[in-house]
Amino acid sequence: MIEFQNVVKRFPDGFTAVKGLDLKVRDGEITVFIGPSGCGKTTSMRMVNRLLSISEGKILVEGRDNRDFPAEELRRKIGYAIQQIGLFPHFTVLDNIAVVPRMLGWDETRIRKRVDELLDLVGLDPDINRDKYPRQLSGGQQQRVGVARALGADPPIMLMDEPFGAIDPITREVLQEEFLQIQEEISKTIIFVTHDIDEAIKMGDRIAILKDGALVQYDTPDTILAHPKDRFVRDFVGADRALKRLGLIRVQDLMDEEVIPKVQIRDDVDKARRVIDEHGVKSAFVVDDENILKGWVDVDGIRHSPRSLTEAMMEADFNEIGVRKGNTAREALSAMVARGFRITPVVDRRGKLVGSITLRALQDLVEQDWGEDEPQPEAS
Ligand SMILES: Nc1ncnc2c1ncn2[C@@H]1O[C@H](COP(=O)(O)OP(=O)(O)OP(=O)(O)O)[C@@H](O)[C@H]1O
Ligand SMILES: [Mg+2]
Repeated sequence: MIEFQNVVKRFPDGFTAVKGLDLKVRDGEITVFIGPSGCGKTTSMRMVNRLLSISEGKILVEGRDNRDFPAEELRRKIGYAIQQIGLFPHFTVLDNIAVVPRMLGWDETRIRKRVDELLDLVGLDPDINRDKYPRQLSGGQQQRVGVARALGADPPIMLMDEPFGAIDPITREVLQEEFLQIQEEISKTIIFVTHDIDEAIKMGDRIAILKDGALVQYDTPDTILAHPKDRFVRDFVGADRALKRLGLIRVQDLMDEEVIPKVQIRDDVDKARRVIDEHGVKSAFVVDDENILKGWVDVDGIRHSPRSLTEAMMEADFNEIGVRKGNTAREALSAMVARGFRITPVVDRRGKLVGSITLRALQDLVEQDWGEDEPQPEAS
């Protein structure tokens, strides 16, 4: 754990960049520091590994004042990926990643093995990339090397200062996904700086919002989106925060396991009509003997082909009309809007119907947010 206790940073010119920061970073989590440019994110981070001194207060690392650690031990414990990548231009990829292990006196065989391991981990072929220089890599590849370098000595703690800041949005999303997958395996304790709220929501287990060197709100992404503490946070997270929140919630948290209006493909049309009437809906989903989703049938279909369900139904690929448990509520909403459904089937990988999700459930979630927004007089 990293704990900031009333930390103040005053620069020699008298400017106070950090004003009494109190905050605990939990083990194995990604804690995001976010806030406008100049709010003190980099400064706060650099005090953790002692690249900057603390003016007042203290920072505990694993329960100990970070000033009590020998510098070398702190370097081994804390990996650092700096803003703007910061690879050494005259070092090869291998030498860049090897910086800390060499400082720690590892032998060359162990270092080579580690470098190849890390290149694999960040998705770069070691044989192709090991001996390249940074200028021979794309921006995204350089960012990957930057992450690999921070992981060099397998530190339990990582400080990542806008590690994906310098790249295009598409590559950035790929790197975010990849890094989250890596984190699943390595469970580091991470402080991750960004000024992109979408990145913060995606990457953060917890988000610390800073303003002028002070902490404004420290909560999970969901709480920040649902209950922004003041106008600053609300403006910062954006007017579409209800939608953003839908992006955090999974279908499995909102779905009904008891499935919707459904009929068997071998049922007759009367049965389908009854099911539709009973549920007060416009259509029912059709499954086969193994409960695999085959399509749907609606009242119009029944009117046109009143004799046979297979003729009355609309056949459809389960991937086309169903969503998965792991999809976000936001994806489910897009699917419903695109297909004009008020109820969408939830299917598993093989197309088996495992539940359903209603437009109503999504609306309730969004309206819950609107409700809170209206009165709340601002105490500023
Ligand atoms: N050595 C220094 N002396 C005086 N002021 C400094 C010094 N270093 C940083 N500052 C000031 O401290 C404030 C915080 O800087 P910091 O680099 O921590 O911001 P940041 O939140 O990381 O911003 P950005 O998003 O632009 O990276 C800024 O106003 C900056 O000008
Ligand atoms: Mg910064």
